[in-house]
Amino acid sequence: MRKSLVAGLACLSLAVTAAAPYAALAKPIEISPTENGQSSLRPLTSDVAVIAHRGASAYGPEHTLVAYKQAMTMQADYVEFDLQMTKDGQLIAMHDETLARTTNAKELYPDRAPWRVKDFTLDEIKRLDAGSWFNKAYPDKAKQAYIGQQVPTLEEAIEFVKQHGNGKVGLYMETKAPNVYPGMEEKVIDVLKKTNVLDSEMLFLESFSEDSLRKLKTLAPDVKLIQLYTGAMLAGKDVHQEMKRISEYAAGVGPSKELVVPKLMEAAHQNQLLIHPWTVNAQDDMVSLLSLGVDGAFTNNTDLLVDLVEKPFISHGVASGDVTDSSAILWARTNAATNVQFEISTDSTFKKETIVKTSPADVAHDFTVNVKIDGLKPDTTYYYRAHSVSSKYSVNGSFKTAPEENSLKPLTMVWGGDTGGQGEIPPFKSYKSMAALNPDFFLFSGDTIYADNATPAVPNPPSGTVQDFWAKYKENRTDAGLRSLLQKTGTFAIWDDHEVTNDFSGPSQPLTPTGLSAFKDYWPISGERSEADKLYHKYSWGNTMDMMILNNRGYRSPNTQADGADKTMLGDEQLHWLKQQLLESDSKVKLIATSVPISIPTGKAMARDGWANGDNVNPNDPTGYENEFKEISDFIIEKGIKNVFFVTTDVHFAEVIKYDANHDGKADYNELISGPIGAVKINPGTLDPTFGPDKLYAEGNFFNYGVFRVDPATQQATVEIQDENGKTHFSHTFELE
Ligand code: G3P
Ligand code: CA
Repeated sequence: MRKSLVAGLACLSLAVTAAAPYAALAKPIEISPTENGQSSLRPLTSDVAVIAHRGASAYGPEHTLVAYKQAMTMQADYVEFDLQMTKDGQLIAMHDETLARTTNAKELYPDRAPWRVKDFTLDEIKRLDAGSWFNKAYPDKAKQAYIGQQVPTLEEAIEFVKQHGNGKVGLYMETKAPNVYPGMEEKVIDVLKKTNVLDSEMLFLESFSEDSLRKLKTLAPDVKLIQLYTGAMLAGKDVHQEMKRISEYAAGVGPSKELVVPKLMEAAHQNQLLIHPWTVNAQDDMVSLLSLGVDGAFTNNTDLLVDLVEKPFISHGVASGDVTDSSAILWARTNAATNVQFEISTDSTFKKETIVKTSPADVAHDFTVNVKIDGLKPDTTYYYRAHSVSSKYSVNGSFKTAPEENSLKPLTMVWGGDTGGQGEIPPFKSYKSMAALNPDFFLFSGDTIYADNATPAVPNPPSGTVQDFWAKYKENRTDAGLRSLLQKTGTFAIWDDHEVTNDFSGPSQPLTPTGLSAFKDYWPISGERSEADKLYHKYSWGNTMDMMILNNRGYRSPNTQADGADKTMLGDEQLHWLKQQLLESDSKVKLIATSVPISIPTGKAMARDGWANGDNVNPNDPTGYENEFKEISDFIIEKGIKNVFFVTTDVHFAEVIKYDANHDGKADYNELISGPIGAVKINPGTLDPTFGPDKLYAEGNFFNYGVFRVDPATQQATVEIQDENGKTHFSHTFELE
């Protein structure tokens, strides 16, 4: 939120008259730890600077006093000047090295091509019209006042901001093409001294040229310098080393906006470097960068960024989840306390039959909201949008309700998991590829965060406070791909171990309650599931599929306990519930969404974390949960339950397995495994033979996700494993019985 310089304001007027240093009296920029833990994905100070790029250049001719005035009226924190130097050594505010694009030089001086600034004196430049081009280029924004606007000198620009900024507007200037203008740095410092702003706290000097910045450093050691970056300048560099290196002379970095990802945020903030990306004009991009914790941004649209930094807004996207044939959970997060309004309709313009629901976003849930929408029609696409009541910025989403009961409609779902740990930090490409499939829903099969791994959100793991856990979810939501997938379709999120800590057993892990509450805060989870922390529940897609979502962590015995009748993964109640659901289900396919695998030994020796004890590794390993799984396996066989598919991730490679647990030559159930989306990539190994696995496919060492299609008309179910670019690596069709 913006810096209040009321005190400074009073002093400033004094300063101007008494020629006292510009803002020496103003409040210094404080580096303050915010309330939310150790995340480096937050601004270094509580201020996010709105930097008017070339003035309010989306609304008026760049680098004219009128565009600077517009920026200040819109409450910019800084006005940015690009600097060029005239033939007679005067500094002017202009972006290009030539006068051609933003003045009428071609008309006034037709024989002076290519109209380089350095070939013209200030007097000649002062005769130019630096505004009419804007009226021609943007007729819908044209104004009489722009005609005849002059090219300002740096001194005029500075005095103009001092005069109209009320002490609240700072200066941000770039030495453009310093190699073209030898001695430019000295001139800049001279003008800053002459205009009494050299000691101002609200002064930044920026350049793409490191040499120019290092020169400015020697000339004015206390001035805050910003090293600008294009993609090419950062390509191939280790950002941590690079940020450490430039922190010798720079107070911050100005990267092109697409370069801003959690890794860069961490590298810069760990070196106390501010991050000011350029040029950010769309509110979606602004929100994306603010969610990453930038310290400010260059924008042509001053007002749009001010609107966001001044009022609570939807900061980390929206999502829908636990969708049935008549209801859905809608989720959103804001960046401060406010009320969130949702509009839901079958009309994507929200003009007719729109349901409106409002819910408070408060700090107790890290400003996340979950609202249930009932009374929806089956098999229908619904559109929704959310905005904080104090902000114009809204985010849209859509989801499809399940077909009515007993109907047989085709289904396409995607599933994946394991995101944001073990050295892998967002963004992850798989999300966009999944969204492109327009799936009916997304099953997020656990390890939706790695709370116990080092990432920019929690550089010193494990996560210990709820703030750490929240920071992890926010980190993953900085990923535009994930946000777009969650906006595009309904999500069923289940947790696995890294939502709390590696291989944890709920009842015996002190962090379980904290991890669980953060998990429920950050996913659109229905009351049926969150009540009593069950998390397990059945969802149907008409009669095409029943999906039994399991909770493999909440009720489990410690991994180290020897397997036997008294060891459980699901707990008696859930185990009974699962059997009941399988028995009662008359759907074509029964999908069991589990967060751990059946026959791939996971965890470690003597503390197996999946169902298998790992006979293929050490037949004497007494752990694992095979005793309980055998009960499920036998039940499926004895009751003749057909078309059962266990779907999971967790192992960080993809595999598709048929099981003939009673060795009668016929498959009894199947297991579909994908992943990771964004975590360490592993290669597949051998399988524990206990339940008669028959490996149809196994591939590792690549990011991937799964696609599962059920077509009741052809009585077929098809599984595909696709890599992060959407390329199919494996496809298999099961004939449904
Ligand atoms: O100064 C930040 C940004 O403006 C750099 O790009 O070309 O607009 O000056 P440019
Ligand atoms: Ca610039």
